[in-house]
Amino acid sequence: MTPVRVLAVASEVYPIVKTGGLADVAGALPIALKTHGVEMRTLMPGYPDVMRLVSGAAEIRTWPDYFGGPGRLLAGFHEGLDLFVLDVPHLYARPGNPYVTTEGVDWPDNGVRFAALSRVAADIGHGLVPAFVPDVVHAHDWQAGLAPAYLHYDNRPRPATVMTIHNMAYQGKFAPELIGSIGLPWHSFNVNELEYFGGISFLKAGLQFADRITTVSPTYAREIQSDEGGMGLGGLLRARASVLSGILNGIDIAVWNPEEDPHIAYRYGAEDLTFRAANKAVLQQQFNLDSSDEAPLLGVISRLSWQKGLDLLLEAIPTILREGMQLALLGSGDRDLQERYQAAARANPGRIGVVIGYDEILAHLLQAGSDALIVPSRFEPCGLTQLCALRYGAVPIVSRVGGLEDTIVDIGEADASGRDATGFKFAPVTAEALAGSLRKANAAFHDKPAWRRLQRNGLATDVSWRKRAGDYAALYRGLVAARA
Ligand code: ADP
Ligand code: GLC
Repeated sequence: MTPVRVLAVASEVYPIVKTGGLADVAGALPIALKTHGVEMRTLMPGYPDVMRLVSGAAEIRTWPDYFGGPGRLLAGFHEGLDLFVLDVPHLYARPGNPYVTTEGVDWPDNGVRFAALSRVAADIGHGLVPAFVPDVVHAHDWQAGLAPAYLHYDNRPRPATVMTIHNMAYQGKFAPELIGSIGLPWHSFNVNELEYFGGISFLKAGLQFADRITTVSPTYAREIQSDEGGMGLGGLLRARASVLSGILNGIDIAVWNPEEDPHIAYRYGAEDLTFRAANKAVLQQQFNLDSSDEAPLLGVISRLSWQKGLDLLLEAIPTILREGMQLALLGSGDRDLQERYQAAARANPGRIGVVIGYDEILAHLLQAGSDALIVPSRFEPCGLTQLCALRYGAVPIVSRVGGLEDTIVDIGEADASGRDATGFKFAPVTAEALAGSLRKANAAFHDKPAWRRLQRNGLATDVSWRKRAGDYAALYRGLVAARA
């Protein structure tokens, strides 16, 4: 099989820089693709953490003036990943996270920062690096959305392009004046090309010009074709439905492996879950919860944003207390939600525990020690924490949307679908429906054989990238074959 060469373009890549699931996907997919005959290299910006961690960096191109300052393209490696790093200090050598200042405000020049990334992606597509001329350029989310657009407007022979939507809510909207300064033609500013509600949108650009569009679950692929789910781009996605499909995410089962996890207190395998109780006891200590094996411990690991529906969980706290359950939440984001959760913890010592922050290590312990993991999202393109929960024997309680619908089998659904139940799903996404499924979960928790069955079915579910990477490989091969 001739290898297919793919240039992935992503603004965050685990384990180098991560703010959410996009990084997990961008970091795991290239490795999973190796066994499918796909040679993937990933282009990312040279943020300070990248410049610190990437080894063997070789300079392959320099520019005295790249979008307003000196720039270099480097090739390097990190933990099995082959990387291209765009080192442009005036754009990326900053504190804060990839998108916002330390105060949480979007960098005012984000348009230029991510246009620069896409510009070099297109140039690599045209052969800038002779040692790696890609057959396919695969752009992730709005930060890479201009790559298919530049390739289109360059009007030269070009590689095939794929645009993957990880989240419709982030569309990369900027003022129209940006067009001139990032080297796009002014004639692109019309509603059938880049124009979007009077400005431009990088995501729209990618969706308009990519040969294929994917998103991270089949249900989300349908949801985003509605006006509500499409968040302004539903019409465009309906028009391009024939090239749109959903491919579920996997998780890196080497990073998420309770048998070898260095971050949990007691390791365990799928056949013997007795050590979960010991992890639960440590978790209760760390979250200042009463030590009790009898109280079902509900875990949450999440960004705190409207998408994640965690305001609904606050409303369901009376049910949690009444049912004798405990809650351990690890999250950060929205200030108001942070404060409301902290207040809930103060008001209910021993019962509600909250850690505000981003803590990769604690996330592992939460998976290993929680009895159930709650994901009450209003929309969820795929969701990864429920997949980790399946692998750790924590039973997912999720809303019936997007990838949550596709990856969890509800306890009431098992027979109908022929699949075994792995958790609890609720709809509509309201506090009442969530409270209803918490009550159901509590009843099942106290029926030990029923609960074991849910855990066992979860542990037997394939959440790895194996099959899903194969779906991407087939997509790339199809595109290459269509051009031959
Ligand atoms: P999203 O990308 O929308 O945030 P996902 O479920 O796809 O949601 O991915 C979230 C990823 O980030 C998971 O790997 C999860 O474990 C991790 N994560 C989210 N919040 C935290 C946190 N506060 N601390 C540690 N890890 C977190
Ligand atoms: C996004 C989505 C999440 C998805 C992740 C990786 O951040 O919110 O549902 O799992 O991207 O695709």
